[in-house]
Amino acid sequence: MLSEIMAIVRETGKSLREVDIHELSVREKTGKRDLCTAYDVAIEEKLVEKLSRLLPEAQFIGEERSNLPLSNGWCFVIDPIDGTANFVHDYRHSCLSVALLKDMVPVIGVVYDPYMDELFYAQQGNGAFVNGRPLHIQPIALSDAFVSFGTTPYEEEKSRRTMQLLGKVFDRSQDIRRSGSAALDLCYVAAGRTGAFFELALSPWDYAAGALIVTEAGGVATAVDGSPLVYNRRCSVLAGNALACEELSSILCE
Ligand code: IPD
Ligand code: CA
Ligand code: CA
Repeated sequence: MLSEIMAIVRETGKSLREVDIHELSVREKTGKRDLCTAYDVAIEEKLVEKLSRLLPEAQFIGEERSNLPLSNGWCFVIDPIDGTANFVHDYRHSCLSVALLKDMVPVIGVVYDPYMDELFYAQQGNGAFVNGRPLHIQPIALSDAFVSFGTTPYEEEKSRRTMQLLGKVFDRSQDIRRSGSAALDLCYVAAGRTGAFFELALSPWDYAAGALIVTEAGGVATAVDGSPLVYNRRCSVLAGNALACEELSSILCE
């Protein structure tokens, strides 16, 4: 199942890097930062078509669909393009994110960055990998770590709160990074490129695959207060090596 999902995600995503962004039609959803293009919709449709042939009994939750509530059984949770604003600006840092949940818990996670041709993946209990290379998170103190974060751009109050917190996070870490793709932020944590990541609210399609990739690489992925992630509604996310996350959580929850 994992290798078939990996093949589908890679095949569906590779066309993204050829897109001429000058021909994109862009629609605002909830506001100027929350965007959708024809590619978001088309990629989601293609993924649903191919994945439903693979596992006909599975339900689907996807960013561009009207979603059913999450229930027990098999469910694919899909973000067809994570980093749509990056895509629109030709920033070339976006990905496809697909998680397979069994009874509301991720058991497979696949994230594909077509620009770097990096395929991150994990299966529950079997470790995490990028392009075949195993990922192992190292314990690095917050003071020696890069901390990546999301601005929660579609929720003004949480964006403001994030800006207030960033001064403290910067003071206590080596430096901070904002990439524009939460799914890739999680994969970069798993790959040890950053020590920790946080965002005050994300949707399950942003983090379901990446959270499994982080935990299978030996890290932690929770809400910012350390409570377990949930997959049936929006939730804050804190991920990274356990040492850095503990300190970061205390800053975020002060
Ligand atoms: C967004 C990205 C971004 C994060 C936002 C997400 P989208 O997803 O992951 O980094 O800050 O909260 O909504 O809209 O590009 O799929
Ligand atoms: Ca997203
Ligand atoms: Ca998206």
